[in-house]
Amino acid sequence: MKKLAMIYEGKAKKVYKTEDESKFIVYFKDDATAFNGFKKGSVAEKGIVNNQMSAILFAVLAKKGVKNHFIELINEREMLVKAVNILPIEVIVRNIAAGLLSKRLGIEEGTVLNTTVLEFSYKNDELGDPLINEDHIRILNLAKDKQVEIIKSYAFQINSILKEYFLKRQIKLVDFKLEFGVCQGEVILADEISPDTCRLWDADTDRKMDKDRFRRDLGRVEDAYKEVLSRVMK
Ligand code: TMP
Repeated sequence: MKKLAMIYEGKAKKVYKTEDESKFIVYFKDDATAFNGFKKGSVAEKGIVNNQMSAILFAVLAKKGVKNHFIELINEREMLVKAVNILPIEVIVRNIAAGLLSKRLGIEEGTVLNTTVLEFSYKNDELGDPLINEDHIRILNLAKDKQVEIIKSYAFQINSILKEYFLKRQIKLVDFKLEFGVCQGEVILADEISPDTCRLWDADTDRKMDKDRFRRDLGRVEDAYKEVLSRVMK
C-alpha cells in the first residue's frame, strides 16, 4: 500500500495516510528523546527493533482477545495499522518500582510492588505529561467513563499476558506505557510496545535492556534492544 501525506510526526514515529482511509502506515525512526525531549539522540536500528517487536506483541495480544491497531508488517521499519484517533492519555502499568514511581514516592528501584499499579498521564508536551486521575480525565474530557473502564481492564489483561510472555524469555516486565485509540467507535490498543515504552530487566541479573540505557547513559543501547528483540522472537 502506498504512503500518502504524513499526518503526524512524533519523537520516534511518523504516521502516513494511505489510499484506504481506514488504514495508516507507521514508520519507526531511530531518534530517541528522554525527559520530555530535553535529552536528544539516536539509537542505531532502534526503529527496526521497535517495529518488529511491536508487531510480534500486537499479534500475541490479538490472539488473546486484546483488540489493537496492528494489521501487518510492511518492511523493517513500517507497519500497516488501523486508522485510530489516539486518546491523549498515557496508561502506565507497574509491577516493580522504577523511574518516576521511585522518584515520586521514595520507593527503592527494584522493589516488587504488592499490587499492580495503574497510572494515567495527560499526553501534553507543554505540560510535561502530568500524572492525572480519572476525575482529571473527566474534567479535561479526555475520554468517556466507559472508555476508561475498557482501558483499565485491557491494561491489566495486557500486563498479565506480557509478564508471562517476557518471563518465558528470561525478561522481567518492570513497567510499561500504553496508548489507546478509537476506531469506528471502539477503543483499541495502539501506538507501540517496545524497549522505548517498557522497562525490561534480564531475569537473572536485573541488567537493564530498555530505554533507561539511553536515558541514563549506561552504554550498549543498540545491543540491548537487539537482544530483547531476539528473545521476543523466540
Ligand atoms: P516513568 O517511570 O518515567 O513514569 O515511566 C514508566 C514507563 O513508561 C516506562 O516503561 C517508560 C514508559 N514511558 C514512555 O513510554 N514514554 C514516556 O514519555 C514516559 C515518561 C515513560
